[in-house]
Amino acid sequence: MSVVEFSNPAAGAVVAPTFWVRDVPVYGELALAPMAGYTDQPYRSLCRKLGAAFVVTELISADGLLHASARTRQMLAFGDDERPLAIQLFGRDAALLEAAALEVEAFAPDFIDLNLGCSVPKVTKTGAGAGLLYDPANIGRIIARLTRAVKVPVTAKIRLGPERELLNYLEVAHALADNGAALITVHGRTRHQRYNEPADWDAIAAVKQAVHIPVVGNGDVHVVADIVRMKAHTACDAVMIGRAAQGHPWFFAYRDRGDVTWEERRALMLEHLARMVAHYGPRYGVIHFRKHVVRYLRGVPTPRGWQVHLLSLERADEIEAQLRALPVGRTG
Ligand SMILES: Cc1cc2nc3c(=O)[nH]c(=O)nc-3n(C[C@H](O)[C@H](O)[C@H](O)COP(=O)(O)O)c2cc1C
Repeated sequence: MSVVEFSNPAAGAVVAPTFWVRDVPVYGELALAPMAGYTDQPYRSLCRKLGAAFVVTELISADGLLHASARTRQMLAFGDDERPLAIQLFGRDAALLEAAALEVEAFAPDFIDLNLGCSVPKVTKTGAGAGLLYDPANIGRIIARLTRAVKVPVTAKIRLGPERELLNYLEVAHALADNGAALITVHGRTRHQRYNEPADWDAIAAVKQAVHIPVVGNGDVHVVADIVRMKAHTACDAVMIGRAAQGHPWFFAYRDRGDVTWEERRALMLEHLARMVAHYGPRYGVIHFRKHVVRYLRGVPTPRGWQVHLLSLERADEIEAQLRALPVGRTG
């Protein structure tokens, strides 16, 4: 793969990679977080276009892959414009994860990412996601097996620990780095802290100090100024952004919500809608677009009942007409 192929469209003529994930160059310091039900192909490609340095698929079940449903196959589809892209797997069993990694390698992702952070009970109950954090030695064995099995770099996304009182992130980070992981993303919360308690950036800094592979910091990045703050606090190689980029892919171009005009917002919403229809077909494209549209419209003043009507529309051309009818000249 040539270096130019991965150049970052938002970064202009930058030639030196920001960092490397083993032998894969990464340009830029902002990554799109994996978000189940959200970071699908159309959304990822938009985020990359606006400047995301790399993107990650929604978590994909190793178990589900082996019974490959049509839905799982659709989740694995991606375009070259999204590269570098990680396919994220979750599972508990090393043999099953290895078989799944071999299977997804056929789709030629740039990285395969192991989910060690999902806190949803449905996942942790099976011992997968953050459930694996109880046993760092086992994590080491899984990563060693995966890195031996596939040619692409294997990365991992962790939380700080499986319990509030069990902050074993340094042990886990060493188990990953010592067994061949090529990058670690640290979501600065424990499994039980879910999403809204303050993220611990000191812990991210400690991981960065402890290992010699790239570390991506994640959690409590709400506005563009937080990127610089997190980088200064943790020395992380990149910052991963999830919720702040929902309905706001401009985050990857270092722009806050208030900096985007309504005309820009509408143009991107229409582009997103077109990509959704191309990916999912006319009916499901519209249905899946609804969750995006409400987030694009967060903070945009609209007449009473206007959004309810928008969400009831079933055809892309009706949505487009309704968006075009909203008076222009306002900021998003
Ligand atoms: C709706 C939603 C779905 C998520 N799905 C995943 C997932 O599939 N895999 C994963 O590793 N993390 C997942 N996460 C966690 C995010 O990747 C990220 O670690 C977390 O939201 C904190 O970052 P943020 O504050 O920038 O959103 C999800 C988060 C949200 C809000």
